[in-house]
Amino acid sequence: MNSLSEKFYVTTPIYYVNDIPHIGHAYTTIAADILARYNRMKGSDVFFLTGTDEHGQKVEKAAKDRGMTPKEHSDLMVKNFNELWGKLNIINDAFIRTTDSEHKKIVQEIMSGLWKAGEIEKRSYSGMYCTPCERFWTEKDLKEGNCPDCGRPVEKIEENNYFFLMSKYHDRLIKHIEQNPDFILPETRRNEVLGFLKNNQLGDLCISRPVSRLAWGIPLPFDEGYTTYVWFDALVNYYSATKYLAPEKTKTDFWPAQHHIIGKDILTTHSVYWSTMLMALGMPLPENIFAHGWWTVSGKKMSKSLGNVTAPGELVDRFGSDAFRFFLFREIPFGLDGDFSEEALIKRINTDLANDFGNLASRVLTMAEKYFAGAIPEPADEESEMKLLSEEVSSGFDRSLKRLDFHRALDEVWRLVSYTNKYVDSSAPWNLAKDPALEGRLRTVIYSAAEAVRIITLCLHPFIPNSTGRLWKQFGFGQDIQSFNIQTACLWGLLQPGIKVQKGDALFPRIETENTAAKQEKQKNKEAKKEKQPMTEQNITDLIGIEDFAKVQLKVGLVLSAEKVEKSEKLIRLKVDTGEERQIVAGIGKSYNPEYLVGKKIIVVANLKPAKLMGNESHGMLLAATGDDGVCSVLVLDRDVKQGSRVK
Ligand code: MSP
Repeated sequence: MNSLSEKFYVTTPIYYVNDIPHIGHAYTTIAADILARYNRMKGSDVFFLTGTDEHGQKVEKAAKDRGMTPKEHSDLMVKNFNELWGKLNIINDAFIRTTDSEHKKIVQEIMSGLWKAGEIEKRSYSGMYCTPCERFWTEKDLKEGNCPDCGRPVEKIEENNYFFLMSKYHDRLIKHIEQNPDFILPETRRNEVLGFLKNNQLGDLCISRPVSRLAWGIPLPFDEGYTTYVWFDALVNYYSATKYLAPEKTKTDFWPAQHHIIGKDILTTHSVYWSTMLMALGMPLPENIFAHGWWTVSGKKMSKSLGNVTAPGELVDRFGSDAFRFFLFREIPFGLDGDFSEEALIKRINTDLANDFGNLASRVLTMAEKYFAGAIPEPADEESEMKLLSEEVSSGFDRSLKRLDFHRALDEVWRLVSYTNKYVDSSAPWNLAKDPALEGRLRTVIYSAAEAVRIITLCLHPFIPNSTGRLWKQFGFGQDIQSFNIQTACLWGLLQPGIKVQKGDALFPRIETENTAAKQEKQKNKEAKKEKQPMTEQNITDLIGIEDFAKVQLKVGLVLSAEKVEKSEKLIRLKVDTGEERQIVAGIGKSYNPEYLVGKKIIVVANLKPAKLMGNESHGMLLAATGDDGVCSVLVLDRDVKQGSRVK
C-alpha cells in the first residue's frame, strides 16, 4: 500500500485517561510498534504516534471522583500508559496529549477554517443524549429506549448547537471507499461501512457542546459559549501531531497517514467522521484504516465489575514482553476477535517459542560449537530448496505485513522454522560428524541451518525484539540487529563463514504446564473450600483475639489542611483533628489532590509510634484501601461523627 512512499506514518487511537491501560490498549499499540519497527528496518522514514484523549465529560468525572483537576488526573494516567509502553518495548516516536497547547490551537484553526468556509452551521437541535458515551442518538437508533452502544438510559436534550455539514459528503465517501479497496480493512469491515452508507443517508454531525454541560474541552473559536465535541478534537490529533511532534530530523510531511490502527468499535468515527472532515478541509485521506477485533478474557468480556481486566504489565513481569507480544499476533488473525487466557499464552510459549524456534536456535549454536569450535563453517554446497523457500518466506512476510496480516506473516516465518527443524533432523549432523568423509556435508548442514536462523531472527525482530536481539549477539551476526536493512539482509547466503558464535541462556525457557495446571487446580480447591466452609479458627490463619484488636486505637479525624511533601510524588502532609491536633504523613499523593481531603472525616490509627518520612514527623496513620490499579481510596465516614470519636 505504501510502496511508492518512503515515509511511513502509523497511529494508534489516542486512549481515554479514565481507564487503566489494559490488553486492548496494548494490542493496538504493539501492532503499531511491529509495523514501525519493520518499516524502520526497511529504511523508511517512520513516524509512530500514540497518545491520550483527555477532554470530555468522562475524564472530567473521573478526575472529580479523585478530587483532582482533569489535568492533574490526566498527568497521572499518562504516566501509567508510558510505563506500560516501556515494559512492552514500544518505541513510539511521539506521544500526543489533546491538552497540548499546540494541538488545541490547531483544532481551533481547523474549526475557524470550516466555519468560514460555510462547512459548519448553527441550528436548534433536539436529540437523545447518552452522557457516558457523550453522544446524541435519534429515537430510532435507541435499543429498548436505551443507548444502543452502552445500554444505559438516555435523556432528551434540546439546545442550539453547531453542526458540521457531513451529509453533503455522503456520495463522495462511498466513491472513495469503492475506488480504494485498501482504505478500510479488513474487507468485512469495509463492506459493513459501505452497506451502512448505501442504506442510510448520512446526517450532519453535532460538533459542539454548551459550556454548561461540557466545560472540559476546547472552546469554539467563534462562540465562547461552546466547547468542541470530544471526537472532533480527538480525531484532529492525527494531523496536528504531524505539525509539532513529527521527528525533526526529517523534513518529511507525514500527512496523510499510511495506517490508522483502531478497534472495531470506533470504525464509524474514523471512516465516516474523520474522512468527511478531511474532505471538507480539502486534505488527503489516510491510506488505510484498519479495524481490529476485540479480546475477551477466558471467554468473558473484560469489565471492572467482573474483575477480569487483564493488566498487561503483570503478564510481562511473569512471562516477558516478547512472549506477550508474540502471543497476541500468533494466536488470532488481526481483524478477528480473540480470547486471552494464561493457558493459551503458556501453550504458545512452550510450542512455538521454546520448542520450535528456541530449540532450533539452540541446536544450531550447540552444533557449531561442538563440531566447528564455535565458528560458522564454509558450506560445500548451496541448499537450493531451502534458499528458494527462504526467498518465498521473505516476500510473503513483506506482503502480509503491508496488509497488516500479522498472523499470515508469522505463518510464513514458521514455514521456514518447521522446514529447518526437519532439515536438521533428517540430515542428522551427529551422524555426519562421525565420518570424516562427510565433513563437507556437515559444513553445508550447519551453515544452512544457521543461515535460516539468521533470516528467521531478522523477520521476528519486530515482533520479539528482546530475544531476537540477544540471539543476534549469540550468533555474532553483527552489531545491532535493528541497523540492518531487512530486505537486503534477508537475502540467502549473506552469512559470513568464520564468524564466532557463543551460546547463552535459553531464549525461551519452557513453562511447566503440568505444574501450573496442578497449582491452579489446588488454588481452585482452596478457594472452593473457603467458600463452602464457615469461618472457623481452623480455616483462618493468624486469628487475633479482641484484646489484640483493642490495642489499636482508631479514631475519627477531621482533615484541617493537606499539602504535598516537597520532592515527593507519593507523600501528603496532613493536619488532622482527632480530639487533638496532629500531623500525619500519608503515601496517597499519586491518588489524591491534597485539597480534596480538606474537610473530610477519615479514620486514623491514633496510637502508632511516631515515624519520620522524608524528614516529616508522622503521628499516626490514616486508613486507605489500594485497588488492583494501585490507586488508593481513603476511608471516609459517610455520616457526620464528631472528630476524636473511637472507631471499634
Ligand atoms: N479515545 C477514543 C479514541 C479516539 S481516537 C481519535 C477511545 N479510547 S479508548 O481508550 O476507549 O479505546 C481505545 C482503543 O482500545 C479502541 O481502539 C478500542 O477498540 C480498544 N479496545 C478497548 N477494549 C478492547 C478489547 N477488549 N480488545 C481489543 N481492543 C479494545 O475509544
